[in-house]
Amino acid sequence: MENKKIVVFHTYTNHTKIIAQNIAKKLNCDILELKPVEEYSKDYQTVVDEYQNNESDKKTPKIEKINVDLSKYDEIIIGSPVWWYTITPVVRTFLKENDLSGKTIIPFATNAGWLGRTFKEIKSLCPNSTVKNEMNIVFTEDYRENQLVTSPDEIDNWINSL
Ligand SMILES: Cc1cc2nc3c(=O)[nH]c(=O)nc-3n(C[C@H](O)[C@H](O)[C@H](O)COP(=O)(O)O)c2cc1C
Repeated sequence: MENKKIVVFHTYTNHTKIIAQNIAKKLNCDILELKPVEEYSKDYQTVVDEYQNNESDKKTPKIEKINVDLSKYDEIIIGSPVWWYTITPVVRTFLKENDLSGKTIIPFATNAGWLGRTFKEIKSLCPNSTVKNEMNIVFTEDYRENQLVTSPDEIDNWINSL
């Protein structure tokens, strides 16, 4: 039987959501959006400034309760925007609160070209999982453009390889 997959993601300005929905559609798999209990400011610059010290252990906000049973899935495709060179605090909370031991984790990140230590932090938070096939997806710096820098073909090839 084929491995059961789910795409889990967080998004603030929708880049990661667009990619996550594309993956779920192409692989015909489940999808779960992670959301903070306390919403982020609508003002982009406020959020950028607030998270400048997005250090690995410091920020773990409460997130909305997950209403899927993760034990059903063999593979978790996890998408995070890059915030100050690493995963967002919401993704960090998810990885800390859920035991993903024995599962395969396929991380993808969306960013404006500065991936930093994003995949390293995911690996260190999932020591008992197999973390592989990571994909870095770059958008232009002005998030309002919603414009990819990474070629759509490259993204499709990656999705088809999963
Ligand atoms: C708080 C904050 C910090 C960011 N830090 C980085 C960064 O370190 N490197 C980078 O390339 N882009 C950075 N960006 C840009 C986002 O990673 C990029 O626009 C991403 O695709 C947004 O995903 P989303 O639309 O799913 O929220 C940052 C954006 C925000 C809001």
